[in-house]
Amino acid sequence: MLTLRDGRFTDCNPKALEIFGCERDALLGKTPMDFSPPQQLDGADSSVLARKTIDATLAGSPQSFEWLHRRADGSNFEADVHLTAVTLDGESYLQGHVRDISERKAIEKELEGYRKGLEELVALRTRELETANHELESFSYSVSHDLRSPLRAINGYSSILREDYADVLDITGAAYLQRIIGATNRMSSLIDGLLALSRLGSSALQTKPVDLSAAAESSLSRLQEHDPERKIKIVIHPGMTSASDSHFTDVLLDNLIGNAWKFTAQTTRACIEVGSSEESGETVFFVRDNGVGFDMAYADKLFGVFQRLHGEEHEGTGIGLATVKRVVERHGGRVWAEGVVGEGACFYFTLGAVDSDAS
Ligand SMILES: Nc1ncnc2c1ncn2[C@@H]1O[C@H](COP(=O)(O)OP(=O)(O)O)[C@@H](O)[C@H]1O
Ligand SMILES: [Mg+2]
Repeated sequence: MLTLRDGRFTDCNPKALEIFGCERDALLGKTPMDFSPPQQLDGADSSVLARKTIDATLAGSPQSFEWLHRRADGSNFEADVHLTAVTLDGESYLQGHVRDISERKAIEKELEGYRKGLEELVALRTRELETANHELESFSYSVSHDLRSPLRAINGYSSILREDYADVLDITGAAYLQRIIGATNRMSSLIDGLLALSRLGSSALQTKPVDLSAAAESSLSRLQEHDPERKIKIVIHPGMTSASDSHFTDVLLDNLIGNAWKFTAQTTRACIEVGSSEESGETVFFVRDNGVGFDMAYADKLFGVFQRLHGEEHEGTGIGLATVKRVVERHGGRVWAEGVVGEGACFYFTLGAVDSDAS
C-alpha cells in the first residue's frame, strides 16, 4: 500500500518496498512515473495515462487497472493497481494498492501459447484428415470405376463361351462357367455398392423437411412388390419427420429396412417396426425386426465396409450398414444397433445437426 499527495509518495508499507525492490528513502518523495516505464504494454504514454487516472480518482471515482511498473533495478513487472481518494486532516491523498501479477501473467501467456498451439494442431490434423478422406474417396471411386471394364470383359466372354460353345463344354465345364458368371455378377454389385458409398461422401446435402413415415412405407412396399409371397406384419409410426436430405434418408431406410426384410426371411410371424422416440430432447429413429438377430459382441463391426456376420444363406455385399453410417454421419447423427441371436435386431439412428457445406 502506498499513499500519495500532489502526485508524490508520502508513505508506504514494507510490502510495497518489497514489490518495488527499494528502501523507504528511495521511494518517498518520488512519483509513480519514477517507477514506471515511459510506455505501457499497449503503447500508451505512461505519464498521460497516469495523469488521467489520478485525476479521475481525485474526482471521486476509484480506479482499478493493470499497470506496467518498473522496479528500482530497472526491470519491469505487471501489476494490479487500485486507487482511491482519501481525506486526512482536511488534506486530499491518494491511496494505492499495488499487487505484482507478473507470475499470473506469465502463466496466462504460457496457457495462451498452449491453446494457440493446440488450435493450430487441431486445424492441421483436420486438414490432413480431410485430405486423406478425400483421397481415399477418389481412390475408391476410381478403383471401382476402373474395375468395371475388365469385369465386363470377363462376364461378356464367359457368356459367349456359355452360349456359343455349349456343345463343346461338358457339364462340369459349364458349371464352372456358371460360377464365373455368378462371381462377376457379385463383384459388379460390390462395385456398385462402393461407388454409391464414395458418392455419399462427396455429394452435397440438400436439407429439407422429410416425411420419414412415408419414405419407410414406400421402401417396404417396393420390397413387398418384389416378394409378393411374403407375409410380414409391418408397423410404421405415423408422422415421423426429420430435417435431412431426402435422397440420403431414402438410401438409409432402404438399407435398414432391406436388412430387416432379408434377415426375417425364415422367421414365422415376421414383424418389422419403423418408429421413433424422444430421448433427452433428441429424436431417435429405429428399425426393429424379429429375425435372426446377431451377437452383440460384433455390434460395432457391423458398420464397417464388407463386414458380414451371416453367411451366404443371406445374400449381400456388406456395404449397406457402412452406407447407413456414412449417411448418418453426414447429417451429424449417430447410429447403433442391438441384437439377440435368434430373436431379432434393432437399428437406432439420429439425424443431428446438418453438415451442409460439404465439399
Ligand atoms: N436386421 C438385421 N438382423 C441381423 N443381422 C443384421 C441385420 N442387419 C444387418 N445385419 C448384420 O450386419 C451385416 C452387415 O449388414 P450390411 O452392411 O447391410 O450388409 P449385407 O446386408 O449386404 O449383408 C449383415 O451381413 C448381417 O450380418
Ligand atoms: Mg444390407
